[in-house]
Amino acid sequence: MIRVCAAAEVAKGTAVSAEVDGTPVAVVHADDDAFYAVRDECSHASIALSEGEVEGCMIECWLHGSRFDLRTGAPTGLPATEPVPTYPVEIRDGDLYVDLNPSNGVTA
Ligand code: FES
Repeated sequence: MIRVCAAAEVAKGTAVSAEVDGTPVAVVHADDDAFYAVRDECSHASIALSEGEVEGCMIECWLHGSRFDLRTGAPTGLPATEPVPTYPVEIRDGDLYVDLNPSNGVTA
């Protein structure tokens, strides 16, 4: 697990972009109060998902509007058809850690 930031730096309902050991990661504080991490790149084109809107447990790509389920990485609508990698997140002593081994088995 690699420390990314303080959990408090990621406000509820927002996403923050981080470079973790060379991997672009979108860290999300979702509306269910849980923290999620996904690869910060839409599976449709090279767009940072962290720049999109967080809604519920979804993040929306701003370019063409595909939404990804933060729990599974799966897109819920076109044009994206491939899932994005999801990474395990842990909060320890107020700090947010990410494991770069994708929990959904998807590699970029
Ligand atoms: S680039 Fe994300 S949906 Fe097209």
